[in-house]
Amino acid sequence: MLNPRRIAFINEKGGSAKTTLVANLAAYLTLRRGRRVLGIDMDPQGQLGKVLGVDQRTPSRTAIDLLLDTLLGDPGLDRRPAGPDEQPSSVLPTLRTRIPGLDVIVANKSLGLFPAWQDGDDPDPTGRLARALESAPAIGRYDFVFFDAPPSFGPLTLNVLRAATEVVVPVPLTYLALDGCAEMVRTIATVRERYDHPGLRITMVVPTFYRRTKLAQEILEKLKKRFPKEIAQSVVGYHVKIDEAQSRGLSIFEYAPRDRGAQAMAELAEELELRAPGARLEDMP
Ligand SMILES: Nc1ncnc2c1ncn2[C@@H]1O[C@H](COP(=O)(O)OP(=O)(O)OP(=O)(O)O)[C@@H](O)[C@H]1O
Ligand SMILES: [Mg+2]
Repeated sequence: MLNPRRIAFINEKGGSAKTTLVANLAAYLTLRRGRRVLGIDMDPQGQLGKVLGVDQRTPSRTAIDLLLDTLLGDPGLDRRPAGPDEQPSSVLPTLRTRIPGLDVIVANKSLGLFPAWQDGDDPDPTGRLARALESAPAIGRYDFVFFDAPPSFGPLTLNVLRAATEVVVPVPLTYLALDGCAEMVRTIATVRERYDHPGLRITMVVPTFYRRTKLAQEILEKLKKRFPKEIAQSVVGYHVKIDEAQSRGLSIFEYAPRDRGAQAMAELAEELELRAPGARLEDMP
């Protein structure tokens, strides 16, 4: 099924602009392209809801409930294991954002306790997110599902990789970034084989925090060599308006639509749209 495209934004390196890309690319696709997008925060830091301006003080259900739903009857109220004939809830714990068409499943620290919630009876705890989404008909309303992954590798990231079919890797153009990329490629290969998920692929490698320095250029060249097809044609520099927008819970398209940062994000979002599975990159404008 191509609809929705399920795209994980992953890099084990912290601060590589994963959350920023999820929020802004999702905002562009909904605001300017009329798409419907669901952002799922799978990071216990819980920043996606914040940068999208969602009031997170009292969300009744969050991403942890999504993970527990596949096993429990009504986890929002009661965390006892479901009886044998209780159906898992198929209602997604989504919240609306200010932008029509852009919904979010927020996270908080409790998501970090996910490994502890496992009761030992589930033979496949890293497949829970995939199963939860499969059993939720509402997912079919979206054109894209974006997963915002945590910086460290663990059961949450594995859940994300098994629920996604595409991966976007933001790579900050700094010295250690290439190590993280190599690690990422190995992880994806493992998930393909070990979890019988052969369709998982890297759709786009996005250079972030681009600067006109010799080091940044060198790293960019190496990335192009390593990922000749996947490397994005646009790069994102450091644009202070992007950071400012986040601090106000706004996308760059609402906060400073004429800023160069908005232009870079728009180009990336359009490129991501064109890189649909099966699309030929040679056909890209
Ligand atoms: N292009 C940009 N220009 C200016 N600031 C940016 C840009 N991209 C991201 N930032 C800022 O850099 C910081 C880190 O970005 P972000 O939170 O998106 O990274 P992350 O990969 O999600 O981090 P983590 O691994 O902790 O989840 C944030 O304060 C964000 O606002
Ligand atoms: Mg983040």
